[in-house]
Amino acid sequence: MTVPLPSYDLPATNRQVQLVRRPQGVPLAEDFALSTQAVPSPRHGEVLIRNLLLSVDPAQRGWASAEANYASPVALGSPMRALAIGMVVESLCPDYQAGDCLYGFFGWQDYAVATPDQIILKAHHPLPLEAQLALFGISGITAYLALTLCGRPQAGDTLVVSTAAGSVGSFVGQLGKHMGCHTIGLTGSDDKVARCQSRYGYDQALNYKTADLAPDLQKLAPQGVDIYFDNTGGPILDTVLRQMNVAGRIVQCGTASIGSWSPLPTGPRNEREIMTRRLTWSGFIVLDHRARYAQAADDMARMALDGTLVYDTHVLHGIEQAPKALSLLYSGGNHGKLMIAV
Ligand SMILES: NC(=O)c1ccc[n+]([C@@H]2O[C@H](COP(=O)([O-])OP(=O)(O)OC[C@H]3O[C@@H](n4cnc5c(N)ncnc54)[C@H](OP(=O)(O)O)[C@@H]3O)[C@@H](O)[C@H]2O)c1
Repeated sequence: MTVPLPSYDLPATNRQVQLVRRPQGVPLAEDFALSTQAVPSPRHGEVLIRNLLLSVDPAQRGWASAEANYASPVALGSPMRALAIGMVVESLCPDYQAGDCLYGFFGWQDYAVATPDQIILKAHHPLPLEAQLALFGISGITAYLALTLCGRPQAGDTLVVSTAAGSVGSFVGQLGKHMGCHTIGLTGSDDKVARCQSRYGYDQALNYKTADLAPDLQKLAPQGVDIYFDNTGGPILDTVLRQMNVAGRIVQCGTASIGSWSPLPTGPRNEREIMTRRLTWSGFIVLDHRARYAQAADDMARMALDGTLVYDTHVLHGIEQAPKALSLLYSGGNHGKLMIAV
C-alpha cells in the first residue's frame, strides 16, 4: 500500500503561535498570539521543515507552565513547543533529504529549522500522515510503552483505563485486549462509553460523570483490578486504588483531572492502600524512551495495517485554530487524536 505524499504550498512567511502569557490552569486562547516572521534559513547540520500537521497534546499545558516540570518551560515570546509532522524543504544535514516526512519537535509554526536532536522519527510508514501522528505521535508510543513497560499485562488481568476514549486511552484499551486482558474504560460521556465498546473493543465502560463509580466499578470487576492505567489522577484514581488487587500495577501517565498544582490539591491519604495491596505505582514520561520509539512505531504500524488497531483523528484546519485547541482537550470535546492541518 502506498499513500501519496500530500502536496504542500510554501508560504513566503512563517506564521508562529507564540506563548505570550503563563496559563493559570488550562491554557486559554489569550495565552497565545499569532505572529508573522521571515522564513528561517538552515545552517550546516540543520534542515528546513514545512510543517503539515501540528500536534495538540495535554503535555503542552505542562510545557507552557512555569511550575516545576520534567521539561524546561517554553520562554514567553517563543513559538509554542509542539510535536509536528513536516516535510523537509531544504537539507544541510546528510541524514535527511528534501521530501522526507519527519516527526519531531517543530513547534506551532509554518516552518521549523531543526537539528537532528529535534527529529524523532521518519514518518515513512504506508499510512496517512494523520494516522502516523496518532499512532507514532506521543499518544500511540505512550500507550504502547507505558502499558508494556509499567503495566506488564498478563492474559486474564483486569485492566482499567481512564480517558479511555481519548488518543492514548483508545490505544491502551485495544493493546490490553490484544494481550488478553479484561478491559474496562472510564470516560466522560455516554457517546464515548458506546465508542469505547463498539470501536475500541473495551469489554465494558463507564461514564465517570454519571456513574456511582465505586459500586459500579465493583460490579464490572468483582475480582478486583490488576492494572490501572491512570490518565486523570484525582478522585477517579482514589476510587480505583481501593479496588486494586494485591501486586497490582498503577501506571501514572497523566493527571488530566487536576486543574492546577498550585496550591497543592488535597485528597485522601493513600499510603496504606499502596502498602497493604503491595502495589507498584510507576510514573511514565514518554520522552525518556526515545531509543525505543522506532521499534514501537514499527509495531504500531504493523498492527494498524493488519487491522489489530483502529485509530481516530480529530483534525482542525488552519494554524489560527491552535490557541484555543488545548482547551478542547480539557472540555472532552476532542474525538480522537487532536491535530491541526496547516
Ligand atoms: N506521561 C506521558 O509521557 C504522556 C504522553 C502522552 C499523553 N499523556 C497523558 O495521557 C492523557 C491523555 O492524553 P491524550 O493526548 O490521549 O488526550 P485525549 O485523551 O485525547 O484528550 C484528553 C481527554 O481527557 C479527558 N479529561 C479532560 N479533563 C478531564 C477531567 N477533569 N477529568 C477526567 N478526564 C478529563 C477528556 O476525556 P473524557 O471526555 O473521557 O473526560 C479529554 O477528551 C493526558 O493526561 C496526557 O497528559 C502522558
